Amino acid sequence: MQVVTISGFKGGTGKTTLACLLGVAATKDGLRTACLDLDRNTRNLSSFLTLRRASRLESPDHVMLMDTEEDARTNARPKHSGRLEPLVRMAALDGYDLMIIDTSSGNLSDVYEAHLLADLILTPMNESPADMHGLFAPIGSPAAPRINYRDMIDTVRFDRRRAGLPVQRWQVVMNRVAALPSKIGTIINDRVAKMATEAGFETIWSLRDRVSHRALALEGRTVFDTPVDGKLTMSELSGRSEVRALLSLLSRAPERVVTLNPGADHKAEPKMDEKIAA
Ligand SMILES: Nc1ncnc2c1ncn2[C@@H]1O[C@H](COP(=O)(O)OP(=O)(O)OP(=O)(O)O)[C@@H](O)[C@H]1O
Ligand SMILES: [Mg+2]
Repeated sequence: MQVVTISGFKGGTGKTTLACLLGVAATKDGLRTACLDLDRNTRNLSSFLTLRRASRLESPDHVMLMDTEEDARTNARPKHSGRLEPLVRMAALDGYDLMIIDTSSGNLSDVYEAHLLADLILTPMNESPADMHGLFAPIGSPAAPRINYRDMIDTVRFDRRRAGLPVQRWQVVMNRVAALPSKIGTIINDRVAKMATEAGFETIWSLRDRVSHRALALEGRTVFDTPVDGKLTMSELSGRSEVRALLSLLSRAPERVVTLNPGADHKAEPKMDEKIAA
């Protein structure tokens, strides 16, 4: 079984939309797929998939991770590191081919573990400086967010290496790309491409901005479902190919050793541990 974790601490980049599209595409391609919703606040992926089931649309299985009663009672920040691994192991034993984990910027312990367990990390972002800074600004730069996504990925890779595991693949997905090229889009794409080597991710993929993707929240319908009038538009067909291109990443070797940036090699202790414990 392969595990795909979709992440990025910047909100609204398209993580859940991508999780749902990939989950539906994989299921339609005959892969036994489970989706794990780690966003306990919005539960967007869970509601999309519930809507789909209500509309009798073929869907991946899904699990929503809940807070424990104590978390709910005390309103404490949950610390559940270690509870995802048995779930992933059980799903593999149960014969699932694929697990897609949708994350949020909350509950860092679970999110961190979702990255430790991933074979492939997908990071959607929009062609916007806010997304670029929110995801890739190095620690210490004025644009760096308080909880740094890049630092977490470095730390996960450090921990996996320490455990003798290969570094997993990491891909950036430029999402909501406008039909017409823009100056800012070109600037962002160039800068992100330059950052790839330094931050240690691979190719940048793109998903266009499509009304059909936005319509997910209406009844959970995706570009992979037969339209009510039976006619697929060109936009829906192109939308399918974009998502299928991402899905094809799974048929390749799931794990690949990539060169880490030198800073990650010299870390004495992962900083993310401290952040999670905080
Ligand atoms: N390719 C796309 N085309 C059109 N709309 C999109 C696309 N991707 C995402 N959206 C829209 O962008 C908004 C944010 O998407 P989504 O909820 O998937 O982001 P998210 O990263 O999961 O957000 P959060 O951080 O809140 O979990 C939604 O309104 C969604 O419909
Ligand atoms: Mg989401």
